[in-house]
Amino acid sequence: MPDTAMLQRLRETLGEAGVLTDPERLAPYLVDHRDLVRGKAPAVLRPSSVAQVQAIMRLAAEYRVGIVPQAGNTSYCAGATPDASGGQFVLSLERLDKVRAVDPLDAAISVDSGVILQRAQEAAAAAGLYLPLSLGSEGSCRIGGVIGTNAGGLSVLRYGMTRDLVLGLEVVLADGTLVSDMKKLRKNNTGYDIRQNFIGAEGTLGVVTGAVLKLIPVPHRRATAWVELTAGAPLPEMLALVRRESSDLVSSFEFITARSLALVSGADGRLKSGSGGVILVELSSSSQHLPIEELLEGVMGEVVEAGWAEDVIIAQTEAQRADMWRIRETIPEGEKHFGGSVKHDISVPLGRTVDFLAAGGAAVAAYDPALELSVYGHVGDGNLHYNVLVPPGEDRLAFTDRIGRELAPALYDIAIGMGGTFSAEHGVGRLKRGLLQHYADPGRYRVLRGIKGLFDPHGVMNPGAMVDPAEGLIAD
Ligand code: MLT
Ligand code: ZN
Repeated sequence: MPDTAMLQRLRETLGEAGVLTDPERLAPYLVDHRDLVRGKAPAVLRPSSVAQVQAIMRLAAEYRVGIVPQAGNTSYCAGATPDASGGQFVLSLERLDKVRAVDPLDAAISVDSGVILQRAQEAAAAAGLYLPLSLGSEGSCRIGGVIGTNAGGLSVLRYGMTRDLVLGLEVVLADGTLVSDMKKLRKNNTGYDIRQNFIGAEGTLGVVTGAVLKLIPVPHRRATAWVELTAGAPLPEMLALVRRESSDLVSSFEFITARSLALVSGADGRLKSGSGGVILVELSSSSQHLPIEELLEGVMGEVVEAGWAEDVIIAQTEAQRADMWRIRETIPEGEKHFGGSVKHDISVPLGRTVDFLAAGGAAVAAYDPALELSVYGHVGDGNLHYNVLVPPGEDRLAFTDRIGRELAPALYDIAIGMGGTFSAEHGVGRLKRGLLQHYADPGRYRVLRGIKGLFDPHGVMNPGAMVDPAEGLIAD
């Protein structure tokens, strides 16, 4: 339990606005975005400067108290929720919210880690550039969380994961040391790439306080098609064709099954599912001279000719395009309205996606043929959201627990047997820590523990997430 003396020193350092203890104000910070995990904390700390983050970490090291960094609190794996002991502080990044600079010539943006992703996108746009990170939660997730989870999203296929977009990073370590590496450089071969350790580390190695992100020319022209698939259409072959024939201008290649589509309220009735589901494909280009609409029409003609599509609708207006994307992006919300889902964020090598759909479907049917699946995702990256809908009338938490114990292992075994993973983009957090321990190659797991022990020898950084603090020490 944290010492009252520590709380007093935190108040002196952060001021009243920097230390929340009122239970009503604390509540939203203590539950994860999916309402699966509820924790306790003596206070939520809201530093307004990097120096205050350093001061917090020095105190945490002195008193050996756990600090749980939290950005937009949109983790799918409860990566930013304190445990139930009441002994861990939440460190909210929300007051570190300045866009520090946008540099058009270097095509880079420097931001505090509490900046909301959408604000960073807008700041880039105001400078005539584009931040190619697009997530359903972009209106509320913050850069620190995006970096902490190495977020993926809707255009990874073209621009990569968050780690591919981070040029520079500023991090406060567990003992309060500041690592300032806010460079805009594309080339800098001067030793270990320390930055990559913190990307995807879920706040278990340090607190990210700032970042420099890569920008690209604005993709002014977009051409978007809604492809109603025939049953068994070979998705990897289709993607290969679309990439080749579009000169690799594909920015998204998203899969939606009929069941997922049906969950979206107000879905345009003209946008139907084919018997094999739907692919939402988008080409984008920054050039005003490239006729990508014609390119897409030609490519889609080939897709129909190959017998892979029952119908293709190419968006004729920006409103129609936006409607296609609204459908895709509101599927998670549709699942929530239905009563919830148990999520399996798997990925397999591209060539095995159709095999996974078949084997996964068989495993679910063998377990309980009455279960309904909502399957969709970034199939262009081999990443499927293979979600089991909570049956009406069932208790959501009890069902989640049962599926996690009785069905999920079979699905993960299939994915991993195909060379895939149990978490493609949602991370490990508190929910998948056991899976990491179970599935990680022993050598890799040993290195993970070694890194944790090196950066956080006293286990104060987000204890309980990803790697257990007790496991973090290097000694076996
Ligand atoms: C998505 O692709 O929509 C997100 O990863 C959210 C989800 O899996 O529910
Ligand atoms: Zn996703």
